[in-house]
Amino acid sequence: MDAKKTIFSGIQPSGDLTLGSYMGAIKNWVELSNDYNTYFCIVDMHAITVRQDPASLRKRAISQLAQYIACGLDPADNTIFIQSHVPEHAQLSWVLNCYTMFGELSRMTQFKDKSAKNADNINAGLFTYPALMAADILLYQTDLVPVGEDQKQHVELTRDIAHRFNTIYGDVFKMPEPYIPKVGARIMSLTTPENKMSKSDKDPGGCIYIMDKPEDIMRSFKRAVTDSDTVVKFDPVNKKGVSNLMTIYSTATGKTLEETENEFVGKGYGDFKIAVGEAVVELLRPIREKADDLMKNKDYLVSVYREGAERASKDAYRTLRKVYKKVGFVER
Ligand code: TYM
Repeated sequence: MDAKKTIFSGIQPSGDLTLGSYMGAIKNWVELSNDYNTYFCIVDMHAITVRQDPASLRKRAISQLAQYIACGLDPADNTIFIQSHVPEHAQLSWVLNCYTMFGELSRMTQFKDKSAKNADNINAGLFTYPALMAADILLYQTDLVPVGEDQKQHVELTRDIAHRFNTIYGDVFKMPEPYIPKVGARIMSLTTPENKMSKSDKDPGGCIYIMDKPEDIMRSFKRAVTDSDTVVKFDPVNKKGVSNLMTIYSTATGKTLEETENEFVGKGYGDFKIAVGEAVVELLRPIREKADDLMKNKDYLVSVYREGAERASKDAYRTLRKVYKKVGFVER
């Protein structure tokens, strides 16, 4: 038996990967991956809860796969796959829908936010989204779910669903824990630092994408919103913009927030913003170059997602089978 504990996490290909998803999630996936048995998913089924352009969705899923690998996830050691290729996700999700309460789903912050943003398309999938996410996690008997702060509520609901199911049927699901980084769990927009940096928001300049070119990254950081003060000091209540830039700098360089404060004593915001921009350019440069290279080798990417789906499906089926039996479905 594999003695390693299990990690599952995923990102929606509803937009290009951002610096936020890198710092809040992928960076930690890479750091933890050696010590865990890992599943990293491209959750395209979640993405269609908001209307997508089919050609772009398909393209982004492949490009996201290339970016996962370029960030340092070796497909030989990590199971990397596309959610819609593993039918067990939809199958378990239906069962879990029947163990998830209307009231629980109504309280989800992401549902409330997305309903407000997509008032003309508040579909049932958007509402039951967390049951699909619970299926993603619980299928693999996951121990740890590395995510940014905004996904904590969904992981907590997953635990409630698992607990409810286990209480009725015995220990079917492992109880997963969220893993939220101390620094970088909530990267904010560079232009409106009271809002989260988000791949699906139309916020030119506010969002940095992993595949952005150095000149675009520098331009966005030079224009980043700060405040009328002049001191580089971490104070996320009163100095949102500067604190966000400090978080980004600290996550990109590995320096602590205190070291960052000390480094910029007596220097103006202009110098500081350039230093943050340069740190991010250097962080993302090798990733972009590797992803660009991988995108030239479509056959390789196809082989990775096919193999990933095969491995994932085999493991997922074990849990699904147990669940079907427990709820009283007749074996085929
Ligand atoms: P998604 O696609 O919105 O975001 C992917 C991951 O990136 C993190 N993240 C951020 N972290 C810090 N600052 C930000 N500005 C920022 N923006 C995004 C998110 O917290 C997340 O970890 N429902 C999930 C996808 C999902 C999933 C799962 C995750 C589906 N099934 C199972 C874990 C396990 C989502 O919408 O993430």
